[in-house]
Amino acid sequence: TESVEQMIDRLCAKIPDHPEPGVLFRDLTPLFADGDGFKRTVDALTDAFRGQYDCVAGVEARGFMIAAAVAYASGVGIVPVRKKGKLPRETISQQYNLEYGTETLEIHTDDVPRGSRVLVLDDVLATGGTLGASASLLTRAGFNVAGFGVIMELTALRGRAQLGGHRVRALLRV
Ligand code: PRP
Ligand code: HPA
Repeated sequence: TESVEQMIDRLCAKIPDHPEPGVLFRDLTPLFADGDGFKRTVDALTDAFRGQYDCVAGVEARGFMIAAAVAYASGVGIVPVRKKGKLPRETISQQYNLEYGTETLEIHTDDVPRGSRVLVLDDVLATGGTLGASASLLTRAGFNVAGFGVIMELTALRGRAQLGGHRVRALLRV
């Protein structure tokens, strides 16, 4: 029988030179589109941090899909980490660098109680800019980062180094 790692590898499309020359882009939409594949992925991330978080944070946009499923599976709520300008109440902001550009992420500071243990979820860990910025936002807002869960880690980009000290669970490391 196929392992979770083998399954993720099988359901990941590799696109050369997207979105710019030199980037080999890993696209997980085939995994999200596969009912059994998505369920096994969500279950694996839920199991990896069981009992260690009070809510999850999902990073726009692809992280929302995984965070919603893990939140439902574990009976907790979601804090959305959004691209700038989307959240309507008081926010804090953090700019960061991507493999292909810069962005700003924001969160509301009062959706869950201060001190909540927040598990941060996304599809891909690449340079770590996105998850690093998410962690600094959550920390600045007074939450505790319970760890990071991703489907795939692109190890050559050394993103783990941005995530200082926190536990990282990547279901597949390539
Ligand atoms: C992708 C991916 C991660 C991030 C990883 O999102 O979903 O969030 O990049 O890269 P990093 O580790 O180098 O920060 P993207 O910013 O392309 O946004 P999207 O989900 O809205 O497509
Ligand atoms: N795939 C998906 N998201 C990404 C990638 C990738 O290869 N690189 C940076 N973010």
